[in-house]
Amino acid sequence: MTKEEARQRIAALSEELEQHNYNYYILAKPTISDYEFDMKLEELARLEKEFPEYLSPASPTQRVGGGITKEFKSVKHRYPMLSLANSYSREEIGDFISRIKKTINEEVEFCCELKFDGLSISLQYENGVLVRAVTRGDGAQGDDVTTNVKTIHTVPLKLHGDYPEFFEMRGEIVMPFESFNRLNEARAEAGDELFANPRNAAAGTLKLQDSKEVARRKLDNYCYYMMMDGLEDRYQTHYQSLQAARKWGFNISNFMALCKTIDDIFEFIDYWDVKRHELPFAIDGIVLKVNSYAQQQALGFTAKSPKWAIAYKFKAEEVETELQSVDFQVGRHGTITPVANLAPVQLAGTTVKRATLNNEDFIRQFDLHYGDTVNVVKGGEIIPKIIGVNLDKRQEGARPVVFVKTCPICGTPLVQNEGEAAWYCPNSSGCSPQIRGRIEHFIGRKAMNIESLGEGKVELLYEEGLVRNVADLYDLTYDKLYGLEKVITIEDEFSLMPVATRKVSFKEKTAQNILDALEKSKSVPFERVLFALGIKFVGESVAKVLAKALHDIDHIIGASVEEMTEINEIGEKIALSVRNFFDDERNIDIVNRLKQAGLQFAMAEQAVSDKEQVLAGKSFVVSGVFQNYSRDGIKETIEAYGGKNVGSISGKTDYVLAGEKMGPEKRKKAESLGVPIITEAEFEAMIGVSHTPEENGLLF
Ligand code: IVH
Repeated sequence: MTKEEARQRIAALSEELEQHNYNYYILAKPTISDYEFDMKLEELARLEKEFPEYLSPASPTQRVGGGITKEFKSVKHRYPMLSLANSYSREEIGDFISRIKKTINEEVEFCCELKFDGLSISLQYENGVLVRAVTRGDGAQGDDVTTNVKTIHTVPLKLHGDYPEFFEMRGEIVMPFESFNRLNEARAEAGDELFANPRNAAAGTLKLQDSKEVARRKLDNYCYYMMMDGLEDRYQTHYQSLQAARKWGFNISNFMALCKTIDDIFEFIDYWDVKRHELPFAIDGIVLKVNSYAQQQALGFTAKSPKWAIAYKFKAEEVETELQSVDFQVGRHGTITPVANLAPVQLAGTTVKRATLNNEDFIRQFDLHYGDTVNVVKGGEIIPKIIGVNLDKRQEGARPVVFVKTCPICGTPLVQNEGEAAWYCPNSSGCSPQIRGRIEHFIGRKAMNIESLGEGKVELLYEEGLVRNVADLYDLTYDKLYGLEKVITIEDEFSLMPVATRKVSFKEKTAQNILDALEKSKSVPFERVLFALGIKFVGESVAKVLAKALHDIDHIIGASVEEMTEINEIGEKIALSVRNFFDDERNIDIVNRLKQAGLQFAMAEQAVSDKEQVLAGKSFVVSGVFQNYSRDGIKETIEAYGGKNVGSISGKTDYVLAGEKMGPEKRKKAESLGVPIITEAEFEAMIGVSHTPEENGLLF
């Protein structure tokens, strides 16, 4: 076969296979047998191996998986990923509709959709090819999970038809019940921890490093929202954009309705509240969206969500079951959490055996007694909740549940802080769940990300006496690790499906991986190290604020409560907690040892300092192609200098930043609204960059 013949055959096979994929997964109307499909796919894979120069990132062979993602790159969203306002009652829906009608003052049509219970994803397309798939993350930036998302058959890798050059589809990745049950059955058999619900399973799957395993787990995707610059110039309504997207290859739910009256909307809601149990995947409500883009624009957004949409959440399913006993768990800060052991009961697709009782006040509020019949609900959250007690069924002579007075693990008398409902075990340095909890927090993905130490290994290191605090981790050596072995028990904290056992053993590779991961963690930035220390009330974002304001650990250690509370977003509760932490000599000792080990205890120098926020308060619409920047790059540069990116031109836009091939409609709109159109060079002059962006270190 000549090179040219191979190129042509690869192109033809790719096209054909993608069409079959669409027929099978989206239209549910396959036109060839699985065997024929597999044969063609094999032929394509063979040819791509022989002629790797023709392997396209959008090839149907990518769906089988194989790519490994070592680390998920965090990327900024081009448009922030907002959430939806939630409502739980008909009144709230009624209020929402009246509010909108009052503002708009003309007929409003609502697009009613299913609210898929999975995780949101941003799918970015350039010239009809999927270039990036990013998780929601914190809404401003998420993780690049493209390799894994490509294995999902309902995500089109290559589009057909009159799609726009650059655009983004937002949708939900879900794990259908069938995939979820199959996965959990296999995990139970292997003695692995089970997923509590399909949403968690989908989230866990999307973050797997091995995309082959992702492909095996069979996730699904539904798209429900299109985003691009000038979207409203192309389509008048949200519904039209989704119909167009369906033609290009996206999986758009058929279960949508356009409703003009409140009665029609409630009919849709009531229908799906019952029928949802027949769907092959989980939904947790209905989403209502104003259909007209012009009306959406008139309504606008709050900081968190669009004012033109609302989610109606279905009521959580509720069951009655018996409260058999209560465990008192000890958290990493010493907090004692009472947990109810329940007679196993089926609830929203899973077996529930436990529920949190929060604290002593909660037990008092319900006056809980052993043997009580309690009402349990499970909403979207993993942990089931007790919401009531059926007093008619209380047995005579039932014993009341009494909160423990001493630590159930180490026997230390518990203490209570003034004004707090929680009880604590004060023995922080001698109580094993607290010590292990702190180490587990330290190695967590969002902290030091020492993943090779997860799943039972910390327990083993603790029990062997090798690691009693986080600084001990950095004293580990190959000789200390190699050969350690233990069978450990893993408990699924709340769903408590079967308790699994796992053999943890440190062979050559495991030992080396741990040491490598510890070494790598020495470059984790300061704000994450600060978070990893596990100071009470210092979560990820507080750690960032403190690190940014005080720059290094010595200034944080030396800061008084007053100095800290002067920092925006730091209140007295946090400041006191930080002060208490560093007033404890043992913590100072740990910090010193971690410093000695080479961890980052100061902020890295910023590429752009605060004084250069020359674009502060200015909003930009970016359009066209640029010479020195990618589209994302120029947007990030705008933000790096304090400016804001907005999606479409309005009277409030300060500048339209025009590259080559800027759309004529955009130009017209900017001109008619009197918004200045600036060139790339003019933009660079504004930010004082006269040299190339590479030299400036700002090319993203
Ligand atoms: S629209 C700007 N439509 O619900 C708003 N979201 O609670 C974009 N979700 O983060 C979202 N089904 O992950 C929209 N039909 C639907 C949805 C939906 C599920 C999720 C989405 C969002 C969350 C908000």
